[in-house]
Amino acid sequence: MRFSLPATLFSALASVGVAVAVPTTQPVYCEPTSAAVPLLRLYNPTVLDHFYTTNVTEANNAVAAPQGYTREGTAGLVFPSPGTGTVPLYRLYNATIFDHFYTISASGVDFAVQVAGYTLEGVAGYVYPAQECGAVPLYRLYSAQQTDHFYTTSAADRDSAISGGYSDEGVDGYIIPN
Ligand SMILES: *[C@@H]1O[C@H](CO)[C@@H](O)[C@H](O)[C@H]1NC(C)=O
Ligand SMILES: *[C@@H]1O[C@H](CO)[C@@H](O)[C@H](O)[C@H]1NC(C)=O
Repeated sequence: MRFSLPATLFSALASVGVAVAVPTTQPVYCEPTSAAVPLLRLYNPTVLDHFYTTNVTEANNAVAAPQGYTREGTAGLVFPSPGTGTVPLYRLYNATIFDHFYTISASGVDFAVQVAGYTLEGVAGYVYPAQECGAVPLYRLYSAQQTDHFYTTSAADRDSAISGGYSDEGVDGYIIPN
């Protein structure tokens, strides 16, 4: 025997069905990976500072005297311009403790500037806010003893930094791997 619902109940269920069908996830916008550029990694063993920049001239200046940074290759690839799917990776610096700090968190920027005495130096590049579009986690570590923030996409490098006294500060953005 065919079961038939009263018309009013049927229309109520139909509207519930429509509500459930509304997508709950944000659309993913992928930028063309060909537009991404190397985020160069440098280190100064005298003042114990990891420094990251996409600007080749700035990297060359950092290596030259009197700054004395050493090239440590490329952290990964980031986008030089804003995009629909990406967010700014802010760059900050505390000249007293010689520490470059990078974060995608606006509240992290506010804290660093207002509480920890950092200066906002701009945007290092544009990165993904989630693991999407082929991007991988950018791990953030900090050594209070060396007053140094260190960033890497390598889980092995993260673990060896932790063994060397850095604390694990989680993931701060997602970048295109080398
Ligand atoms: C790159 O760095 C140099 C040296 O600091 C600076 O003069 C130049 O304006 C920078 N270029 C960009 C695109 O930021
Ligand atoms: C950053 O530098 C300021 C001086 O410019 C200093 O007072 C402050 O302690 C430094 N921040 C940290 C976290 O050491």
